Amino acid sequence: MLEKIKETADFIKNIIQETPDFAVVLGSGLGKLQNEVEPIHVLEYKDIPHFPQTTVAGHTGKLIYGLLEGKKVLMMSGRFHYYEGHSMETVTFPIRVFHLLGIQNLILSNACGGVNPAYSVADIVILKDHINMMPEHPLRGKNIDELGPRFVDMSEPYNKKMIATAEQAAADYQIKIHQGVYVALQGPTFETPAEYGMIKAIGGDMVGMSTVPEVIVARHMGMDVFCISVITDLGGPDVAFAVSHEEVLNAANKAMPNVIAVVKGLIKNYQ
Ligand code: HPA
Repeated sequence: MLEKIKETADFIKNIIQETPDFAVVLGSGLGKLQNEVEPIHVLEYKDIPHFPQTTVAGHTGKLIYGLLEGKKVLMMSGRFHYYEGHSMETVTFPIRVFHLLGIQNLILSNACGGVNPAYSVADIVILKDHINMMPEHPLRGKNIDELGPRFVDMSEPYNKKMIATAEQAAADYQIKIHQGVYVALQGPTFETPAEYGMIKAIGGDMVGMSTVPEVIVARHMGMDVFCISVITDLGGPDVAFAVSHEEVLNAANKAMPNVIAVVKGLIKNYQ
């Protein structure tokens, strides 16, 4: 596995020739952020050795290297979900490649369901913590010592300095923003009312089907992580709204200008 990651990283390094300041992973319905990048190189996943291929509608598969707010970013348009049938190794493969490219800062994004009553559809939330309820751990198995330690500290899963920088950007643009705890389930079903109730009861503010495997693998390698979520629907034990993928994409679309402003502010001002 390490050999594959190295080969993929070498391939990308040969093309971009520089160390990006940030890697950015675009979540469901949040692809428009890529239009903000001044592209230097665009690599389709199918042309990158060992790179996994996307299967979900609405997720194209490409890596975009370019400038955003004058910073060098490598943006991943089309992420890999466990529910698609990918192994945890595949889901987290790009993050390991990013680390071997020398990237220190990882920005993730996602669409998720809110269970905190203070949240509304299309609100944006910065992750302050998570609860991992996925059925498999991405670091299970023999530890790859070259990448990180066997037992990983998770006391600061999301980087406090990046959170503070993003909060400042939101305040500057007068964008309402929350900080919350994300619970990761495997999906692909949305939650039942009782399951939304459980998410709330265990201390979650929102629930989704991605992100946490990538965060764990990034922290294993000592990368600094930031994640921004869009609340695309609301659930709870007493909430009987049906959720659809279209609804998720519509809400993500509505929140997009705010997501773009906060991510750009973070990238511009973070050092
Ligand atoms: N649950 C899980 N994943 C999601 C949801 C949800 O309600 N909304 C968007 N992704």
